[in-house]
Amino acid sequence: MDAKQMAAAAALDYVKSGMKIGLGTGSTTRYFVDMLGTKIKAGELEDIIGVPTSERTASQARALKIPLGSLSDIEVLDLAVDGADEVDPQLNLIKGLGRALLREKIVESHAREFIVIVDESKIVNRLGTKGALPVEIVTFEARAHIRWLNSLGCRAEQWMEMDGTPAMTDNGNYLAKCYFSEGIADVFDLAEKLAWRAGIVEHGLFINMATRIIVAGESGVRTMEREK
Ligand code: A5P
Repeated sequence: MDAKQMAAAAALDYVKSGMKIGLGTGSTTRYFVDMLGTKIKAGELEDIIGVPTSERTASQARALKIPLGSLSDIEVLDLAVDGADEVDPQLNLIKGLGRALLREKIVESHAREFIVIVDESKIVNRLGTKGALPVEIVTFEARAHIRWLNSLGCRAEQWMEMDGTPAMTDNGNYLAKCYFSEGIADVFDLAEKLAWRAGIVEHGLFINMATRIIVAGESGVRTMEREK
């Protein structure tokens, strides 16, 4: 088992029959959804309902016959499980390099417990030191949003596909990638600025959302928990 699989397997211990679970997106969560499907098929878990955070995860879950629901009918999720791109010591996250940040944030903010599954490479002292912060933007006047993002102390560029076309989200929006050379100095300040700007749909800073991080590496699996 590689580290991502180990983290996914450890998250499965928190799943009980009857739970309504937010299903994240990405290569680590893919393992989790596979394992969940196997347990349901074996009859070890019953009455599970999954709420997917992307079309990709929804089709994986459907193929595994995991019953799916939506937040229209489910007010509170017992649990959400997802990966992350970066995790800081306060359990704040950068997410969205799998392009699903908006649906992830919507679904995961409805969960009583939000478990993040990562390998050691995702643990950082400061968010933004490892890779880009993804930001979902509307297609209307996209260049103006990219220009504004560049005024925030980062180098921002539109996320393009290999063939030169703009990357699109499941919601029909574009994405930007913001690179901070020294990392993000104040995540709260940045999140507030992004929230106020028209044309910014959502950003990949997940602040005060994760309740538990399951980290897998060469020395095994460890857990970081939010202090209550
Ligand atoms: C999806 O949009 C992201 O938030 C993913 O959860 C994140 O990119 C982690 O993905 P991996 O598990 O593939 O590293």
